[in-house]
Amino acid sequence: MIICVCNALNETTVRQAAQKVGGKTSILKIYESLDAKPKCGKCLCMARDICNQEMSGADLASIPA
Ligand code: FES
Repeated sequence: MIICVCNALNETTVRQAAQKVGGKTSILKIYESLDAKPKCGKCLCMARDICNQEMSGADLASIPA
């Protein structure tokens, strides 16, 4: 699933970047690690949720739709 249309970032890419950067960090640091930066900002809420899940060790598959 595409998370950020402006930077063509999908969920897997954002999730892997969050794991790689690790620890408590900001979504901007995650985007920086991908050589991207927010433009329109519409993706930030969803990207932040993904990063929070990765930092808390939550598995998206375990979250009901
Ligand atoms: S969708 Fe991510 S900055 Fe626009």
